[in-house]
Amino acid sequence: MGFPIAAAVGAFVALWSFQGLLCALVVSVCVGILYVAVFHTRWCYVAIKTVPRDLYALYTYMRIMWVTRQMSKKNLTIPDIFHDVVNRQPDKPCFLYQDEVWSFKEVEDFSLRVTAALKAHGVKKGDIVGLLLNNCPQMPAIWMGIARLGAVTPLINTNQRGNALVHSINVAKCDYLIFNDEYMTAIQDVQSELSPSLKLYKFTHRPLNPSNPKSQNSGDAVADFTNILETTPPADWTLANADGFEGKLLYIYTSGTTGLPKAAVISNARFVFMATGIHFWRLNTSDVIYCPLPLYHTAGGVISVGQALVLGCTVILKAKFSASQYFPDCVKYKATAAHYIGEMCRYVLATPPSPADTQHSVRVIYGNGLRPQIWVDFLKRFKIKYVTEFYGATEGNANIANTDGTPGAIGFVSRIFPSVYPIAIIKVNQETGEPVRDSRGLCQIANPDEPGVFIGKIQAHNPARQYLGYVDKTASEKKVVRDVFKHGDAAFISGDILVADELGYLYFRDRTGDTFRWRGENVSTTEVEAVVSRFADQRDAVVYGVLVPNSEGRAGMCGIVDVDGTLDLDKVYEDLAKNLPAYARPVFMRIMNSVDMTGTFKMKKTDLQKEGFDPSLVKNDKLYYLDLKQGRYQPLGPEEYKKILSGDIRI
Ligand SMILES: *[C@@H]1O[C@H](CO)[C@@H](O)[C@H](O)[C@H]1NC(C)=O
Ligand SMILES: *[C@@H]1O[C@H](CO)[C@@H](O)[C@H](O)[C@H]1NC(C)=O
Ligand SMILES: *[C@@H]1O[C@H](CO)[C@@H](O)[C@H](O)[C@H]1NC(C)=O
Repeated sequence: MGFPIAAAVGAFVALWSFQGLLCALVVSVCVGILYVAVFHTRWCYVAIKTVPRDLYALYTYMRIMWVTRQMSKKNLTIPDIFHDVVNRQPDKPCFLYQDEVWSFKEVEDFSLRVTAALKAHGVKKGDIVGLLLNNCPQMPAIWMGIARLGAVTPLINTNQRGNALVHSINVAKCDYLIFNDEYMTAIQDVQSELSPSLKLYKFTHRPLNPSNPKSQNSGDAVADFTNILETTPPADWTLANADGFEGKLLYIYTSGTTGLPKAAVISNARFVFMATGIHFWRLNTSDVIYCPLPLYHTAGGVISVGQALVLGCTVILKAKFSASQYFPDCVKYKATAAHYIGEMCRYVLATPPSPADTQHSVRVIYGNGLRPQIWVDFLKRFKIKYVTEFYGATEGNANIANTDGTPGAIGFVSRIFPSVYPIAIIKVNQETGEPVRDSRGLCQIANPDEPGVFIGKIQAHNPARQYLGYVDKTASEKKVVRDVFKHGDAAFISGDILVADELGYLYFRDRTGDTFRWRGENVSTTEVEAVVSRFADQRDAVVYGVLVPNSEGRAGMCGIVDVDGTLDLDKVYEDLAKNLPAYARPVFMRIMNSVDMTGTFKMKKTDLQKEGFDPSLVKNDKLYYLDLKQGRYQPLGPEEYKKILSGDIRI
């Protein structure tokens, strides 16, 4: 009989002590919570506000990484990944362009023709086949055809001429170049500076007619690529003869507002990561996506084209962006999603109201650079439900997205789990862009509301974290910072100055070098540009600092585009005075009829900066200076110029 009693006593003790344990646990958790709540109230507030956002982002990030991992395991390249999509939905429209509808099957067939034609012309694994092509469905099909042979494709900016064009072709070491027939003169103009062994092919956008090909003059120095495609039967489908998922696929040039373009390496892995990285924030396979961006940049050519090639969406291509056609096009093609870059939003917002503003069925827009100053107005006027604003450098590994539509934010860093996603904002010297280091020689994380440079930690073999850099190795190394948080680690340094708020939302300030000092204050050119454009009816504005003799720092100068001559400078100044601190108001104004822009609508500052406010250098534009006494802009001619130099006019 002893055993049951002993067992009962044992069970009782066990239960009792279990309860005691539980009790102690509950009490200590309560005390813990109380302690945190009392002594870390701010932390609790931040946690409550941000944990749902962080968890949703973590969940989506895991989906992105899972899909990328699956493709990585199969070790496929883009033409092979595309083949799976084609098999799933051969007849679904892949690209819409003008009145053309290209099904997934048709895009693949075209790319197989390209593979056969180029193979016959000697293209082999490791060759470089440059493209200088306008937006059209054939463009991605051509580079897929090239990728199937294991060759790499530099996508050259079609605005480039002269020196910049030569540089783009030569820095990538192109063996072949395929260009639209309309660029024939541009190529001929620089032909003497290109390698004599470079083989040239001109491409004409027209329907192929294999049964009755247009004949080619055999005497032409430049081969007719369209004609070659007509006379070459498509290759049989095979897996690409390439270096697998991590092999090189494209070179994409980062345009920059200064200096010559640099060719950044895009691997298949990065292509997939960038496309899926956007897709899983609110897009899905049934979306029809409007893309008016050039296909030689990452935004249009990888992120939007990738929605079709990797994820099976229908993508609408546009030859050239037009503000007044943006939403009418979305109505016409029944778009459900649309891609933007910030400047486009500004132009679209400046168009007169039209029924298309709300007739379209665009549910989500995604892109980068939607300025905080117009964010809310844009969504309201065009009745857009979701925005995915993201940030990611073509060449870099630091990618973030604004996943909950917080106006103006370009993404966030988790405040509660900062190490989950390896990005950070570190303290920098704002003039040189050099990280500020502590006594151990390591970098320091910027505090909330303190501007710093955005970095992404480098980790090999992880498409989200590896850094492939540029074709030019020394240029690549310049973008790497070492000994960041511990000795021996490395990170990609973006050069963009961001500010994080208390909840971890990130806001763009400017690029390093885009600030200048005036009256002892740092002026952010991006910020002043945004304010000026807003009060000048969304006209293009570019702000830069100019040297004035006997003055410290640089005085702000603003170039503003006024095509129709209706700009009211007095009114603009009134608004600037209300919205900008005195030191940030442009001291000089330059009213321009037109403007020289890079392919991404960014104006070229260097040239404007060189001419400064000297009327003898600025021939065609009107100059003004800010008359502080009268509080208005006054015309600036040779007389005034002399007085400013001598100090008789104080600025
Ligand atoms: C992927 O395939 C390429 C070429 O077929 C090969 O060189 C590479 O080692 C493969 N990578 C992996 C991780 O299997
Ligand atoms: C998928 O996209 C379609 C078309 O835009 C949209 O109607 C649908 O609501 C989306 N589905 C989800 C789950 O978001
Ligand atoms: C301006 O930038 C410099 C260099 O980064 C910094 O040392 C200084 O504190 C800044 N000044 C102001 C007023 O923010």
